[in-house]
Order: sequence, then structure tokens, then C-alpha cells
Amino acid sequence: MSDIQEKDGGACDGCALVDRRHFFRDAGLIAAGALIALGATPSGASAAPLELIAALGGGREDKSYAIPAKDGTQIDKDNGVIVTRWQGKVYLFSLACPHQNTAIRWYDKDNQFECPKHHSRYLADGVYVKDSGRATRGLDRFAVRKDGNNVVANLDKLYQEDEEEAAWKTAFVTL
Ligand code: FES
Repeated sequence: MSDIQEKDGGACDGCALVDRRHFFRDAGLIAAGALIALGATPSGASAAPLELIAALGGGREDKSYAIPAKDGTQIDKDNGVIVTRWQGKVYLFSLACPHQNTAIRWYDKDNQFECPKHHSRYLADGVYVKDSGRATRGLDRFAVRKDGNNVVANLDKLYQEDEEEAAWKTAFVTL
């Protein structure tokens, strides 16, 4: 289905984890780089024209976003949040790959996310594509609630599929 190919990403031994603040700064730069480097992807697939967005408001940990008008993915790089509308649901993912925190990318052509570091792939709803890359779980999902025409992410509640499976499975809003 996909022409995204697994490539040797090298050993992970030297892959240092970064703290949250630096990750989001770096992730933002990487995400911006992905936009600039359209077509310069490992697979040759065009990166999606990701729409950069900013939170509409909210407190320090609650960030509000307009519900996207159609299926697709938007990114708030300042807060490291991906807003994805997909098949009647809205998900708010962490921009960080669950393996080693690399900023993931969205490929419109395949309707999938891919990590540029070890090429783990994720479906639009964040489900991990088995045996791709080195990840072992789906994209981490923020707790989310609907507020009128907006969705609100709780940045203090990030669910990992392997640790809080029940909460992870229900971390979306239905339109
Ligand atoms: S950082 Fe290793 S698969 Fe994403």
C-alpha cells in the first residue's frame, strides 16, 4: 500500500532523550524543516501541506483548537500538539514519536504519520503500523474534550497506549 520504505536508521545507543522544553523547540524546527523540504523525504513521497496552527486560548495546560473543517492534520508546534480529524473523530496527539521523541511527519498520500528517525509508521488515528520502525505503541494521545466548536487538550494528561490502554482508546471526541 505504502511506498514508505523501512530504512536502516542506525543504532539508538547515542540517541539522547531531550527534555520537554528542548524537545518542543527542536520538534518545531524539525516540523518546519519538513514543510520546507517538501518532496525531499526518504521515500520520495510528498510531505503533506501541513497547516501550522496556534492554540486559540486556554490556560497553561489546557489548549483549545478549532475543530478542523475536514479530515486532515494540523500542527501546533509551540505546544507539540497534532490535531487530527479523521472519520468523524478528532484526536490530539503528541508530536513526539513514542520511541525516542523525534517529531513525526504526516504523509497525505498515505494518510499516515511516519517518524523520520527509524521510520515507525502510524495510521491517522495514531495506531502503530506493526513491524514498522522501532516503536512499540501508538502515538501518545492527549486527553481531549469538546467545547462548542473547539476541542480542548489537557497537556497534563498524555496517555500511552501500553500503560493506560483504556484511556488511550477513548482519548478522542466524536463529531
Ligand atoms: S524515534 Fe525511533 S521510530 Fe521514531
